[in-house]
Amino acid sequence: MRPDTLHFNPHIQPFTRTGERDASPDIRQQYGVERIYNMANNENPLGPSPRVIEAIARAAPELNAYPDWSDIGLRRAIVDCLGRGLTAEHVYTGCSGFEALELIVRALLRSGDELILSSPTFSGAYQKVALPLGARVVDVPLEAETFRYRPEAVRAAVTDKTRLIMVCNPNNPTGTVITAEAMHELMRGLPEHVLVVADEVYHHFVSDAAYPDSLQYVLDGANLVIVHSFSKAYALAGLRLGYGIAKPAIADYIAGLQRGFHQNKLALAAGIAACQDQAHLLRAVEFLRGEARWLCEQLDKLDIRYWKPAANFVMFETKMPADDLNQKLLERGFLLRPQTRIGLPYCMRVSLGTRAMNAAFVDALAEILHGK
Ligand SMILES: Cc1ncc(COP(=O)(O)O)c(C=O)c1O
Repeated sequence: MRPDTLHFNPHIQPFTRTGERDASPDIRQQYGVERIYNMANNENPLGPSPRVIEAIARAAPELNAYPDWSDIGLRRAIVDCLGRGLTAEHVYTGCSGFEALELIVRALLRSGDELILSSPTFSGAYQKVALPLGARVVDVPLEAETFRYRPEAVRAAVTDKTRLIMVCNPNNPTGTVITAEAMHELMRGLPEHVLVVADEVYHHFVSDAAYPDSLQYVLDGANLVIVHSFSKAYALAGLRLGYGIAKPAIADYIAGLQRGFHQNKLALAAGIAACQDQAHLLRAVEFLRGEARWLCEQLDKLDIRYWKPAANFVMFETKMPADDLNQKLLERGFLLRPQTRIGLPYCMRVSLGTRAMNAAFVDALAEILHGK
């Protein structure tokens, strides 16, 4: 119970602090399984580059001292691998992709302002940062069934109060892509007071030629911020490191919200080392794209409907309610994300693992659904 004499912000949402989402020994005990297959968080099962691990080991003995005040070294490493004439001034860093998003929202939204999102999407996170600021979240859903983005409907929902439009691409949890054409249609003629947020934390995995070139919008000076993360293709989810890319006038302003010594020493060292090992990243991307193809083939064989994935996870639909399927999977040690809470009661999202994990998952699914 919150003490009612204190003026807590009524928009703060409850948060789970007990660890029940974790692949903890409790789950192992509770279900009597030897092994937990964590396929819930869209992590990269191949792990970080050995160069990152070395960089962290080198930095660790100096943890008594504060890190560099500035993250300029990391920003330079980031733009070195992005290329395209981007400079360190186009980038600000966050302690996770989530924080890179949060900084945008805090920089732009005040009480009564509006943020547009298109569900089903990464709504929980967008709401979590927008609502405590007293902002209004406006949902312009994706088209039912296909999950196609509806730029014309989003543009029609823009008002004088609209400050942000969230474009999650590839979209979580559907894994689908918002095309360059749809993005163009959205950007065309948007009023100057609106900033588009391209949440592209899964962009490395995309091979679809229809994917938009969001960096070009930034280079052309559009009101658009792109968010990237080290959690996915770089396999550094435990480090909590992400960044945003925007024209310098926007990036500077957002970076104004950063704390002094914003990035910790290990994250600075690891982020730079990760950027400098693109070969490691490409190997992971190739591998996970292959696993996406393989898993989809298996789902086809099992006659299970799925949405063609552009990221390192797949959303699929079965005739069994997702909460029931989830329970049966948990009993076999598989952690996935049922999508019931976001209005898709027959859909589940599975993160791609190693071939052994993916094959074990397919076997479990076949046994549960078809008794095979
Ligand atoms: C669409 C999307 N955006 C942002 C994030 C945040 O990533 P992180 O905070 O791990 O960098 C996630 C994490 O799963 C995500 O799925």
